[in-house]
Amino acid sequence: NVLILDFGSQYTQLIARRVRELNIYCEIKPYNNPPEDLSSYKAVILSGSPHSVRGEDAPHPDLSQIKGQKPLLGVCYGAQYLAHFYDGEVGQSNTREYGRANLSMVKEGELFFEGVSQGSQVWMSHSDTIKKLPRDGVRIASTNDVENAGYRIEGEDTYAIQFHPEVYHSSDGKQILENFLVKIAGVAQTWTPDAFVDTTVAQLKKQLGDDRVILGLSGGVDSTVAATLLHKAIGDNLYCIFVNNGLLRKNEFSEVLLQYEGMGLNVKGVDASARFLEALEGESDPETKRKAIGRVFIEVFDDESKEVENAKWLGQGTIYPDVIESVSATGGPSATIKSHHNVGGLPDFMKLKVVEPLKMLFKDEVRRVGKSMGLSPSLLGRHPFPGPGLAIRILGDITPEKVRILQEVDHIFISGLREWGLYDKVWQAGAMLLPVNSVGVMGDERTYEKCVALRAVESTDGMTADWVNLPYEFLQKVSNDIINKVKGVNRVVYDISSKPPATIEWE
Ligand code: XMP
Repeated sequence: NVLILDFGSQYTQLIARRVRELNIYCEIKPYNNPPEDLSSYKAVILSGSPHSVRGEDAPHPDLSQIKGQKPLLGVCYGAQYLAHFYDGEVGQSNTREYGRANLSMVKEGELFFEGVSQGSQVWMSHSDTIKKLPRDGVRIASTNDVENAGYRIEGEDTYAIQFHPEVYHSSDGKQILENFLVKIAGVAQTWTPDAFVDTTVAQLKKQLGDDRVILGLSGGVDSTVAATLLHKAIGDNLYCIFVNNGLLRKNEFSEVLLQYEGMGLNVKGVDASARFLEALEGESDPETKRKAIGRVFIEVFDDESKEVENAKWLGQGTIYPDVIESVSATGGPSATIKSHHNVGGLPDFMKLKVVEPLKMLFKDEVRRVGKSMGLSPSLLGRHPFPGPGLAIRILGDITPEKVRILQEVDHIFISGLREWGLYDKVWQAGAMLLPVNSVGVMGDERTYEKCVALRAVESTDGMTADWVNLPYEFLQKVSNDIINKVKGVNRVVYDISSKPPATIEWE
């Protein structure tokens, strides 16, 4: 187990990802709230930071239990920190030190740089520079602009580098992390999806005993993998609830429910479509629609969870990026949920203890864990789908007729992507029902009907995205099918906007 002390760098999560890619388990902890017991950590990495070590409000944690006691690697700010506080000197640099650089000197015979060539490309991002090495410091790398690009402390397993080994642009970055963690710190590379499943199931068994757990399934990857893990641990003491809000894709509710039952999950499907549609009646503002859906979901889920007597826990499919975001934004993961509902008291299920078996995993790791438990590739490879579903793809107010039209259109588009082998090349796809009618001719008659927009994007995290260059023949076929088969639609357009500035959803 490796500890990453986070000083607030935008790259901290990347360090964790690279370490996990080496099949080594690691945890990120904020520098101002480190774990009290450090005994289980075999090595510690200090992250970068937007601060300057010389700044007044800069992070200055006490490293006395770590430095010289455990293998320690300082990255960027971490490297400056070790210099600043151990008799070295950090000052503003004269040249800009951002982006690409090359190691002009790599000290021979250093285990830390084994397999790293002279000239290796590294990525810099800092305005301070280490002017004088700390006590017992030995320089082990330089670039043309940065003399002290890397150093170690004589007599300790303490290493420090000014560049970022975690970004892809540092071409030997992963090798350097491996050298440090495996060759120097002797950490075992045993963190695999199978091992994760075994240890997590054992932990959950111990933690939950004979307690009952309630979990809301969404049909998405995270909640499904979380449920599968919990089910392995406690069997039918896991009560899953799958709510149909009436805004899912065509046939999704019944198909996914069947799939869940086939997996042996103790699942109850609750068709609350009417309740949701009623709450949405006449609403056309996107945020009001989202809030209405969130509110009804909580009501429905609360009613259903009361049916499970003696439930002690609420299972959730929270994953690592959610945890990190909410920790940094609010000071605690549960703070956000609760702030929305503290008027009039919390619903009962929110008073349950929370169990989140995926909370240390990144999305791709969740998929790997799912795969190792034998979940079907079609389930694991599903596109993301927003919680409010088709409600935010029907621009303006929502009626059952509009939901039906959009479900048909979406179905033709998505099954077309599958048939043409395009589904897995796309990160997310869907159709929008626009609040305009346009003129068309069908036979001898003029029509005045709905227009739909198709959207397909590639992305890695949804933060930025670009439209996918789908083959014209495919678009032609899909457009024909939609106009011929879906009553009420006479025009199809394809969205060719990138995010930013356009968002993925239209509302
Ligand atoms: P945007 O439209 O902001 O979407 O580019 C980025 C990603 O977030 C999804 N999305 C939502 N998911 N509730 C959700 O659970 C929402 O209200 C919501 N709005 C957008 C969107 O589908 C895309 O994957």
